[in-house]
Amino acid sequence: MTETAKLPESYANLINVPRTSLLIDGRFQSSQSGKTFDSINPVTEEVIAQVAEGDAADIDLAVIAATNALQEGPWGKMDARERGRLMMKWADLIDQNQEAFARLEVLDNGKPIVEALGYDIPSAAATVRYFAGWADKLEGKTIPTSGPYFTHTRREPVGVCGLIIPWNFPLAMAAWKLGPALAAGCTTILKPAEQTPLTALWAGELALEAGIPPGVINIVPGYGETAGAALVKHPGVDKIAFTGEHTTGQIIKAATTDTMKRMTFELGGKSPNIVFDDANLDEAVDGAFGAIFLNQGQNCCAGSRAFVHESIYTEFVEKLADKASRRVIGDPFNPGTEHGPQIDRAQFDKIMQYIELGRQQGAQCVSGGQRVFDRGYFIAPTVFSEVKDDMAIATDEIFGPVLSILKFSSTDEVISRANDTQFGLSSAVWTQDIDKAYTVTEGLKAGTVWINCYNIVDPAAPFGGFKMSGLGRELGEQALDAYTETKTVTQLRK
Ligand code: NAI
Ligand code: MG
Repeated sequence: MTETAKLPESYANLINVPRTSLLIDGRFQSSQSGKTFDSINPVTEEVIAQVAEGDAADIDLAVIAATNALQEGPWGKMDARERGRLMMKWADLIDQNQEAFARLEVLDNGKPIVEALGYDIPSAAATVRYFAGWADKLEGKTIPTSGPYFTHTRREPVGVCGLIIPWNFPLAMAAWKLGPALAAGCTTILKPAEQTPLTALWAGELALEAGIPPGVINIVPGYGETAGAALVKHPGVDKIAFTGEHTTGQIIKAATTDTMKRMTFELGGKSPNIVFDDANLDEAVDGAFGAIFLNQGQNCCAGSRAFVHESIYTEFVEKLADKASRRVIGDPFNPGTEHGPQIDRAQFDKIMQYIELGRQQGAQCVSGGQRVFDRGYFIAPTVFSEVKDDMAIATDEIFGPVLSILKFSSTDEVISRANDTQFGLSSAVWTQDIDKAYTVTEGLKAGTVWINCYNIVDPAAPFGGFKMSGLGRELGEQALDAYTETKTVTQLRK
């Protein structure tokens, strides 16, 4: 790991924070309680903004606004094509402000500016644009039923949607949920993660500027246990879309049995990345490296378990450890920085505990393994070899820059070990043998399989998990199912 010179003392006054209050019914406003919470920069640990703290009372107002916008406002009656046009305009406004959005995301989240500019912001706009294209393509079917009847189906918006998102890709996660919700004609209440509310709030302002009517996108920052829980329980909310920890997903699922709300979940992972001995070794090393260290490992599809064939294991470990030792870590605003801090103190502590546990349980730390700098939540890219399947670093989602490298000898064995996890979000296989690639693809229980690549996520391709990694799919045509109800209409023909 290569440190960049010196961290800045402060980012104060460096970046304009456009919006810090709740967005309800088209107006930015304080919370009903008047309370605020601090948004902390993870590099300097300084408070960068005080953000209005929403709770149940604000969620009530937001649900009223979203219900009115759906039932009384122009949105519910608008031509689907016009909805799509407004969404396109919104995507354009985000694109026009890419640089400023990226800086705001870096300030709030700490990710390297190259990643915010290269992925987060352009992909948020691309996702909104992709779904804008669907707005006027949600078609029903005519169905040949028996008897003197004419039957057809209509696809209607599911209604008021509560969107609860995490802090790892703040604006992109907002777009993954708002895109299909708006295309389907729903209205929304977005609850950003308490760590990173800033970019979503500004994007909400631009949505109004684009002409998306008041009340269609309401944004209520606040904590999960208060604002989030109130949204989940609210009888006026028809659907919840959630991304976050699997244990939070379980709490939310249990809390919705009485209302039978529609639910989609995108939860965690412990994704296997399988490298065969016939793979192009350097490409596989680069791929496995990016798979885990992108966004400091704070990625639901992070390739945190690399299974490497025994005949190339030693060489692979050496190359990967060497690469990790050269990763540039430091001020995320520096365009040369590749690795920033973790999001907050809680995540930092959790990751450091797992690193300690990895050592205690007998894995070998071949790179990193320590804190970097005496301020900020920086952890060196960490690589463990000689990892066994039952070690905590091989079973638990760490959500940090910690790679476990495991050894395997046969195809059947590696498929079975790769699947021996409660999760099933993503996976990858590196080989030049196309038959082997598809044998593994068929065997893996995961929502995504990458062949000779990793972390390739496109708005048009469905994304989601098997098993504990989730329920339903986001992105792609399938995402629209989660935001629509099918209505069957049958007419008697005389
Ligand atoms: P979390 O699941 O607690 O938070 C995600 C979102 O859910 C936030 O907006 C939060 O305010 C909200 N939330 C929390 N409790 C809630 C509740 N009872 N009802 C409604 N909403 C609630 O995740 P957290 O605590 O930020 O991170 C903990 C771990 O979760 C990470 O270490 C990582 O393993 C995992 N995680 C996974 C993510 C993914 O993309 N799959 C994203 C973020 C975290
Ligand atoms: Mg939590």
